[in-house]
Amino acid sequence: MLFNPRCFDGSKTEGERDGELGAHQQRQEEISKLPVEMGWRNFPFRLYHGFWFHEPHLNGVISLRRNFCRPAPSDLFLVTFPKSGTTWLKALAFAIANRSSGHHINSGHRSILSRHPQDCSPYLEGFYAGPHVPNLDAMPSPRQLGTHMPYSLLPESLRDEGSPGRIIYLCREPKDTLVSTVHFINTMGSEQSSIAAGPISMDQAAELFCKGLSPYGPVWEHQLEYWRESQRRPDKLLFLKYEDLMAEPAANVRKLANFIGRPFSPEEESCGMVAEIVELCCFEKLSGLEVNKAGVRGKEIGVTVNNSSFFRKGKVGDWREHLSPEMAEKVDVITRDKLRGTGLSHSPEPPAPHADQGGEMP
Ligand code: A3P
Repeated sequence: MLFNPRCFDGSKTEGERDGELGAHQQRQEEISKLPVEMGWRNFPFRLYHGFWFHEPHLNGVISLRRNFCRPAPSDLFLVTFPKSGTTWLKALAFAIANRSSGHHINSGHRSILSRHPQDCSPYLEGFYAGPHVPNLDAMPSPRQLGTHMPYSLLPESLRDEGSPGRIIYLCREPKDTLVSTVHFINTMGSEQSSIAAGPISMDQAAELFCKGLSPYGPVWEHQLEYWRESQRRPDKLLFLKYEDLMAEPAANVRKLANFIGRPFSPEEESCGMVAEIVELCCFEKLSGLEVNKAGVRGKEIGVTVNNSSFFRKGKVGDWREHLSPEMAEKVDVITRDKLRGTGLSHSPEPPAPHADQGGEMP
């Protein structure tokens, strides 16, 4: 998480700080009364307004809803269901927004090579997780702010008809999201010794995922809330798919740049800026950088996550290597059922290669 000390600048009075501490404790009490389920390596999950949250995230989720002030017109919210390509989206949005006009060697987009994409925009729930409310006004504009919040739980000031902030949502096929989540959670460490007993198996995880019980789950409702809003207000919410970004990166980078308000100029087009940004932010490039291989994060919510865990394979259709045909079918049936008639679909992937063509069967 990008830690901007100016957001916690201590300019509050003692009374204000005591008030915030009291509100924090009240939220903890509120959380302790919510329905709880264990799963995913004994991490406690709580059900809050129809979505499941890993308990340590929830104070930040509630605080963000209640304490976030009005967005600025230049604010850009980068939203995903966890493990849907947040890291990639953050890198691309950062590179697009920070390039200098013209094409000179010190253009800001190249600084993505020296910072973890997760540090390019704060993870808001983590930012609000502590007892004291951050002062986001201390962040320079234009701000890029990351969150996994379901649309219905975003601060009201951002959902208002007249809200000036804009949202980019990146959506991923549920089976690949599930597989990515399992690998990620199995690499997580925890400060609580009762947790992290051992890895969760793919079958156990798939059962929980199908019940909606996964971080910020159910995935289908999460995607649909943003999908519907993108249909209603396309100028406010850009809905992208991981698979489309993979298939047609240049076209989608242009779409992102237009939405961000930094379209590529003819000069940039002719000198290959689009291709350069695609290349800078591709999986192979980012996963090989030292800054993305070393270090840990997550301490503010009592977990440890290796910076390298945000990069695993970066492939479409990797579920074939990990899910049994029965589990895959179970997820697909729910996906078809939930998305029917909504206009949102996860395009069929190319068929798996046959064994006699040299391919591996799952
Ligand atoms: P896999 O586990 O399937 O490899 P998030 O960033 O939301 O946590 O999502 C992580 C997923 O995005 C992981 O998927 C990770 O490998 C993939 N990813 C990270 N950076 C990427 C990039 N630059 N291009 C494509 N995929 C990327």
